[in-house]
Amino acid sequence: MNDLIWDKTLSVDVPEIDEDHRRLVDLFNILNRAVAQGDAADYIEAVMEELLSCTAWHFRHEERLMLKYGYAGLPAHKAEHEELITSAKELQQKLLQQGKAVSSEEIAFLEHWLTGHILGTDKDLGSYLCEVM
Ligand SMILES: [Fe+2]
Ligand SMILES: [Fe+2]
Repeated sequence: MNDLIWDKTLSVDVPEIDEDHRRLVDLFNILNRAVAQGDAADYIEAVMEELLSCTAWHFRHEERLMLKYGYAGLPAHKAEHEELITSAKELQQKLLQQGKAVSSEEIAFLEHWLTGHILGTDKDLGSYLCEVM
């Protein structure tokens, strides 16, 4: 699988959010390459852990901006964040229990997990913030 390229398509037009998303895309690519190269399981686990903790931190960043700027969509957006964290943690647990390498299907799941939310829910938030910030 090719690297995920961060470009204008993924931009939400809010620089501080784009900066976080770029970092998440970078981490996803590090994970993707590690899996493709057959790197050691403990290294892959460490990258997954870094991706998950950066994502959790980023979600709190967005939720703070939503609070600050009175975004009415906060509860639904926050609920989506919680679901995303739960599904990624389930995948992480499954991998740890099985002690096996991440499959290409699981990488595809994570790619969608990352870009699906940015292209939909985060773009809506970005449009709102562009008007009020
Ligand atoms: Fe985001
Ligand atoms: Fe979000």
